[in-house]
Amino acid sequence: MKKSTQKLWGGRFTAPTDELVEEFTASINFDKRLYAEDIAGSIAHAKMLGRQKIIPAADVKPIINGLKQIKAEIEKGEFNFSVALEDIHMNIESRLGEIIGAEIAGRLHTGRSRNDQVALDVRLYLRRQLERVEGLVRELVLVLLNKAEAEIGVIMPGFTHLQQAQPVLFAHHLLAYVEMFKRDIGRLCDCRKRLDLSPLGSGALAGSSFALDRQSVAEELGFSGITANSLDAVSDRDGVAEALFAFSLLMIHLTRFCEELVLWSSVQFNFITLSDSFCTGSSIMPQKKNPDVPELIRGKSGRVVGSLVNLLMTLKSLPLAYNKDMQEDKEPFFDALDTVVGSLRIMAPMIKEMRVNQEVMARQAGAGFSTATEIADYLVRKGLPFRAAHEVVGKVVAFCEAQELIFTELTLSQWREFSELFADDLFTLLAPQDAVDAKALYGGTATARVAEQIAAVRAEFN
Ligand code: ARG
Repeated sequence: MKKSTQKLWGGRFTAPTDELVEEFTASINFDKRLYAEDIAGSIAHAKMLGRQKIIPAADVKPIINGLKQIKAEIEKGEFNFSVALEDIHMNIESRLGEIIGAEIAGRLHTGRSRNDQVALDVRLYLRRQLERVEGLVRELVLVLLNKAEAEIGVIMPGFTHLQQAQPVLFAHHLLAYVEMFKRDIGRLCDCRKRLDLSPLGSGALAGSSFALDRQSVAEELGFSGITANSLDAVSDRDGVAEALFAFSLLMIHLTRFCEELVLWSSVQFNFITLSDSFCTGSSIMPQKKNPDVPELIRGKSGRVVGSLVNLLMTLKSLPLAYNKDMQEDKEPFFDALDTVVGSLRIMAPMIKEMRVNQEVMARQAGAGFSTATEIADYLVRKGLPFRAAHEVVGKVVAFCEAQELIFTELTLSQWREFSELFADDLFTLLAPQDAVDAKALYGGTATARVAEQIAAVRAEFN
């Protein structure tokens, strides 16, 4: 059996750790991403220990300087991460001992456990990364607003059941996604608000017998308060779970959009043309231009939802308080974060650069009897009950289909065979543009309403 080196917790052990166990239990290969948060937390903790006279005031400066040096070493790629030292917390503490001597470095962990330390690091990391994701979603929303504004005159067929339903503005369709992304931003913000408490001082599980000033540490680290129950504070990974849910739903929204981009960019639809720089070719079929980017965002959503389920299953039935299982929170979170960030970063320029094929959309918007509801509403305004009006227009559609005609090709006398209520004014609402602008109620697709929405969201975001 291969054995390893001396541990920071080695006091009660007589036999060294098996190397297989070291490798199996180590988290350093992934939790090194928490180094900046870990160091920030340690600096705040050390300062407070000095202020409270729990450690000699003279030890605080060397501890801080040592930690800053470690940060610089990590950032320059000069830090030697060791699996034998298990995780980021012990890698940093051990290096601190090398730099400033074990005696002073050994005081840093007073009144602290890795359990409240990792809980802190995760909260700090989440806070920063959630803000970053919010920023990327905001950028995407701005791209959508700009596109909506630039293409405000474009009419497209709106669908239900993927069958042509009623004409809508392309901008209205884009703004539907803006609403989803606004809710996503709201969820990320909410998650950040609930995370905003410092768990330091919870110790391993029971709290601390030292006179730690938890509040001042929380303030120094930018938290608005401190956690109320030490057992909960070290057991809680709700923030990670909430973040993963917010990421999952955000990805699901992206997949709905991406699915439409894949459809729309097909020869059959031809509603949009994705920029060559966002597509790839086929190794065998020379004509191919594949929408790999939206396909891959669609595909990658599975990893993010998988990460959420992964974490929930890890937390399920875990007894209080800390259990080593909880170390399994990090890899799924990091993977989901990278996936979301990568997807958002590529989505914005892809939308910005896509071309909207206005004529194709307009032609399609007029096809498929898409103004039928408008005509039924017309009859309603002339006094017919809606159900009867629906029936009349249904018969006109059947007639047109049999004769291979479209609404605009029927004469007034042909219309009047179906209902005496049809008059000349009917012809002012057969065009898709008329149908669109008739939907002038708040929340509808009329050009005026959509323009107002663009302005309203812009004002909210500036
Ligand atoms: N690497 C551990 C984690 O990520 C840190 C906390 C370990 N605490 C412990 N008592 N083993 O969860």
